[in-house]
Amino acid sequence: MLILGIETTCDETGIALLEFQNDNVKILKNELASQVKIHQKYGGVVPILAAREHKKNLPFLLKNIEKDFNLKKVDFLAFSVGPGLLPALVSGKEFVINLAKKLNKKIIPVDHLSAHLYSVLIEYKFNEWQKLKNVEFPALGLVVSGGHSNLYLMESFEKRRKLGETLDDALGEILDKCARALGLKYPGGPEIERYAKKGKTLFSLPKPMLQRGYTFSFAGLKTAFIQLLDEIKKYKNLDERLISDLAFSLQKTSFEILIYKLKKAKENFRVKSIIVSGGVASNQTLRKMIKFYFQKTKIYFPERILATDNGINIALAGYFLKEKVKNPEEIDVYPRS
Ligand code: KG4
Ligand code: ZN
Repeated sequence: MLILGIETTCDETGIALLEFQNDNVKILKNELASQVKIHQKYGGVVPILAAREHKKNLPFLLKNIEKDFNLKKVDFLAFSVGPGLLPALVSGKEFVINLAKKLNKKIIPVDHLSAHLYSVLIEYKFNEWQKLKNVEFPALGLVVSGGHSNLYLMESFEKRRKLGETLDDALGEILDKCARALGLKYPGGPEIERYAKKGKTLFSLPKPMLQRGYTFSFAGLKTAFIQLLDEIKKYKNLDERLISDLAFSLQKTSFEILIYKLKKAKENFRVKSIIVSGGVASNQTLRKMIKFYFQKTKIYFPERILATDNGINIALAGYFLKEKVKNPEEIDVYPRS
């Protein structure tokens, strides 16, 4: 079975072609157009520009796939219908519906957060059959990205209950905004990671809502970080050393919040595994911390390249969701989960 996965929820335009046979998979193509350069000067994703870029990029990416594969042979189109930025989703939807009609194919609607969770099942290698990995359930699932900070209790990938989410900004968004305040470029997460590695001094920052169940809130941390930065700038130059210490403090504090909630959930529910995915999960320090704190639990991370948005994750999730297939005219998108 051949599934074409299409991703346009945020600022990555992705199309990938995957082949499935029983529970084996082969990545045939992965086309990705990053819009980072476009959004960099605004310090964050501008939804209307993201939509314009998707519209521009999608036909080119598809052409690159068509060079090597006859699209008529594709069985299904899998499309990430949300949550995400509405203009970006709408431009993707138009493209996918037209393509489905042209090829006379059905569409598998894929939840973007499901796709992040499924991403731990696959390795990033091309033209080689690989057996899909197995996750032992029940599991905790944590998706930490630019748009989400959601913690799930999972009986399976599809049977999951949201234990908590962020009341305000997602963790990736906080890292992006704080990085911007430090004068670092967008996306801020990888920049914070890079500087944090050289940091030594820990500034005290708050951990909001630690005691409130599994609910996250990161806005207070961002405000405190920016106030601290403004205070420091009154009497010190923001040099590399200081940026590194601040990045280190922000990263350590925010990751400790994640660990705290994961620990609480682990104590309350007898889970066998923990899945951590989404853009922020590509952070090596976060991976090390989680492995350290949960040594007796099986931990699943996606390969770093699959942690951020791409078409592979969508095609992969599509394989598991193929029963939910729809006609093109039935497809609708949703900005929120
Ligand atoms: O999953 P993703 O590609 O898009 C959304 O669905 O939001 O996540 C993007 C987010 C951005 O906020 C980016 O700064 C963050 O993931 N990110 C990281 C790292 N790489 C990407 N955060 C921390 N460390 C990283 N290495
Ligand atoms: Zn994402």
